[in-house]
Amino acid sequence: MSKQYIYIAQASKEIISCKIGLTGDLEERLKSYNNRTGKSKDNVYQYLFTCEVRDMKQVEDDIKDEFRRLREEKSKEMYFYNKDLFEDYVKFIKNHKMFIKEIFIKTDIPKEEVKIVKRITPSLEERGVTRQDLLQKAQKIRNDEFYTRYEDVEKEIKMYDAEIWKDKVVFCNCDDAVDTEDDRRTSAFSLYFIRNFKKLSLKKLICTHYSSAVDLFNQGAKGYIFTKDGFSEFKDYPKGYNGSFDDPVSIKILNEEADIVCTNPPFSRAIDYWNLVINSGKKFLIISAMTNPVTTSFIPYFMDNKVWAGFNRVDYFLNPKKEIVSNRAFWYTNFPIKDRPKYKRLKIVPIKEIPDEYKEYDDSKTLIVDNCYIPSDYKKPFAISIFPIFNGILEKGYKIIQDKSYVPIVNKKDKFSRLLVQKI
Ligand SMILES: C[S@@+](CC[C@H](N)C(=O)[O-])C[C@H]1O[C@@H](n2cnc3c(N)ncnc32)[C@H](O)[C@@H]1O
Repeated sequence: MSKQYIYIAQASKEIISCKIGLTGDLEERLKSYNNRTGKSKDNVYQYLFTCEVRDMKQVEDDIKDEFRRLREEKSKEMYFYNKDLFEDYVKFIKNHKMFIKEIFIKTDIPKEEVKIVKRITPSLEERGVTRQDLLQKAQKIRNDEFYTRYEDVEKEIKMYDAEIWKDKVVFCNCDDAVDTEDDRRTSAFSLYFIRNFKKLSLKKLICTHYSSAVDLFNQGAKGYIFTKDGFSEFKDYPKGYNGSFDDPVSIKILNEEADIVCTNPPFSRAIDYWNLVINSGKKFLIISAMTNPVTTSFIPYFMDNKVWAGFNRVDYFLNPKKEIVSNRAFWYTNFPIKDRPKYKRLKIVPIKEIPDEYKEYDDSKTLIVDNCYIPSDYKKPFAISIFPIFNGILEKGYKIIQDKSYVPIVNKKDKFSRLLVQKI
């Protein structure tokens, strides 16, 4: 009987999604994906994980069932991707009773064909490196190059009372380049505040440009500080300054000048950025990954009420080639939010009114709820996903009761990460 495989594949331009599927021929499947994406080799598929299984249809069905909320597109078997989710998928597959063994596939961008190679000794594992580590290292830089679209900045800022900006110094400190000759070379954050400087009655705008290997705005690989102070606009190039948000010069501006910080920081350094900005005590309005509310390093900030969701999710960005790419992010802030429109998405009802398909108990008898159902009459802690957080559950009489993510185990299998909350 021919062999059966389950794989996780990813296209180079869709790094926040992955495909999880089944096949009897791994080489052919990858080839057909890459044929479909065109000959430009711009958007190349690679395998992140492949394994042999006994009954691929059953494994695939169980994956669909287990991760139904993480499935983006049913017809194309697309699932959300990030490091934690990937680990969840792999763990689930490896724990499946039909799992036989992991297959190692050469992950280089294929030229003509992909080769299934025998495991070489010493293995990556023996060297203390996972394939995922290597992929992630390469992707880390690429993961940061998501540039915010003007309309997303405009859409979020419009939701807040204009008074919050009056006489304030706004600091955009993550590669918010400014080219006074060319708007296309100016970051959307900088452009928005320059255009609306008067309307918002800003006192000052300070934007820093980070001199990284990728230079979307063609500003030259040299960090600088752009300042708009009334009608006066100027750029400074302090000696040895690379524009990093944690450079002493940037930190001095943050602590001594800034009132409001507003930007989209690099995803790979998000936790360092959150630590710095939240501990500065300044007001902020920033974009970060959608999964932060269920990620252990960020949870204490939500738990201590130092940050909460803004109004909008952000699904599209521009890549360094200025093409639209998808990613899943959300606005986060410490500005008070009144009358959150998304409250209406919360379904706070007595537990007996929650449909069975949206409630279950894990092996430790902890209740898990889905689809934004929240039990109104349940006294014990229960597990939720990120969506109730975005819809304002923490403003509706519920609190986070564990400062790390909660991974439910159902029938001895790990489910994806959630957050433990309780009615106050
Ligand atoms: C997600 S992009 C957003 C860029 C811009 N703020 C925007 O919204 O369009 C993050 C940017 O931060 C830059 N970056 C990486 N490390 C940085 C650091 N240490 N300090 C400041 N910016 C950094 C990346 O090169 C990238 O351009």
